[in-house]
Amino acid sequence: MDIITLGNDLLRQKAEVIKPIGAEYKKIAVELIDALREGGGVGLAGPQVGLMKRIFVVHVDGDEPRIFINPSIIRTSQDLVKYEEGCLSVPGFYAEVMRPAEIRVQAWNQNGRPFSLDAGGILARVIQHEYDHLEGTLFIDRLSEPKRNRILAKWEKRRKA
Ligand code: NI
Repeated sequence: MDIITLGNDLLRQKAEVIKPIGAEYKKIAVELIDALREGGGVGLAGPQVGLMKRIFVVHVDGDEPRIFINPSIIRTSQDLVKYEEGCLSVPGFYAEVMRPAEIRVQAWNQNGRPFSLDAGGILARVIQHEYDHLEGTLFIDRLSEPKRNRILAKWEKRRKA
């Protein structure tokens, strides 16, 4: 699996619901986790490898890799926190993004079993970032316009170099 980067239109498209969750998703989950590990990140969503399906994997320090299929964020805390984010599809760029501190997410795993999870800290952060990918949203979209434009200008400059 190759990770696509900013400028590829697939990153801007909405991913499709997975129905049914077939046996192939066990293999896809393993491949996504492998790609995540190779990329040295904490989360990776289907669209980032050109798979336009509602699936992402999250692997934060001290936790096992987690797979989310057809996720919904069904609750968000009122308190927002700032945290520095990066993205394997926007390599080399980081910025502080405001998001709810705690969430409840409902999803299915690679075996087609539903689960719900209450998350805070970095886990909540990564889940929200990966969920955005399923909607065609990147973390830079959540920055102020000047900040986003600064990153986009540097990105263009680096791409041309
Ligand atoms: Ni990302």
